[in-house]
Amino acid sequence: MKNILIVGSSSGIGNSLTHLLSKDHRIYGTYCNNNTVEVSDTVSTHYVNVLDDALDLSFLPDSLDGIVYCPGAITLKPFARIKEEDFLNDYKLQVIGAIKVLQSCLPALKKSNNASIVLFSTVAANMGFNFHSIVGTNKAALEGLTKSLAAELAPKIRVNCIAPSITDTPLAGSLLNTPEKIEANAQRHPLKRIGNPLDISNAIAFLLSDKSSWITGQIIHVDGGMSSIKM
Ligand SMILES: NC(=O)c1ccc[n+]([C@@H]2O[C@H](COP(=O)([O-])OP(=O)(O)OC[C@H]3O[C@@H](n4cnc5c(N)ncnc54)[C@H](OP(=O)(O)O)[C@@H]3O)[C@@H](O)[C@H]2O)c1
Repeated sequence: MKNILIVGSSSGIGNSLTHLLSKDHRIYGTYCNNNTVEVSDTVSTHYVNVLDDALDLSFLPDSLDGIVYCPGAITLKPFARIKEEDFLNDYKLQVIGAIKVLQSCLPALKKSNNASIVLFSTVAANMGFNFHSIVGTNKAALEGLTKSLAAELAPKIRVNCIAPSITDTPLAGSLLNTPEKIEANAQRHPLKRIGNPLDISNAIAFLLSDKSSWITGQIIHVDGGMSSIKM
């Protein structure tokens, strides 16, 4: 039974992952705005806002085997209309938040025999899409962080990143709020459907498990073929 911190277990992919792992592992989940969270014998859930100056992670055990950092945003705007603070606010949520959590948890991760960190990128970090400059910039930073940390923390701690395409979660709600939008998004993918949270959480569960113990520094594309197949 591993001890796993899921920052953002209250929604979307983090919530799917919590359900997937809670049978076999002890999950320390967090919520920020959505406090309708479940608690069970193996799942405890705690308030964390990664934008706070000081994070209180005192609920964590001494030793941690996995961390998944879910907070993210899809702020789509024409480049000319983006203010400096739009970039900065998104950077604080997606990149600085992850850095603060990982720095706080390093001593606990170092006590594990096969610790694994999973961060999130997006298909839009490596492919150009209109209006995606905020998310494309900041997720590319997370890809860089993944590779740098994978080098620095090896061989004790593995660090990988999942890069999904559009997935049916509250975060993508405004892009998927009609049957026509869902179908149009499905047709853009070689596998002709959008992602569901379990498509992504299955890949994360593998990266957290000892089955992936020779994998580090990778950006894993779980995207219906979007990033590698020309249609
Ligand atoms: N869905 C997609 O189409 C898609 C595509 C590519 C990449 N991704 C990436 O996948 C990751 C997970 O996305 P998702 O779709 O599962 O998103 P989601 O449904 O919006 O869930 C995000 C989680 O992060 C938490 N969170 C948000 N702001 C926070 C803050 N300031 N402090 C602490 N926790 C915070 C939320 O907590 P509360 O709900 O309690 O506030 C929630 O549990 C993100 O990094 C996203 O960029 C998603």
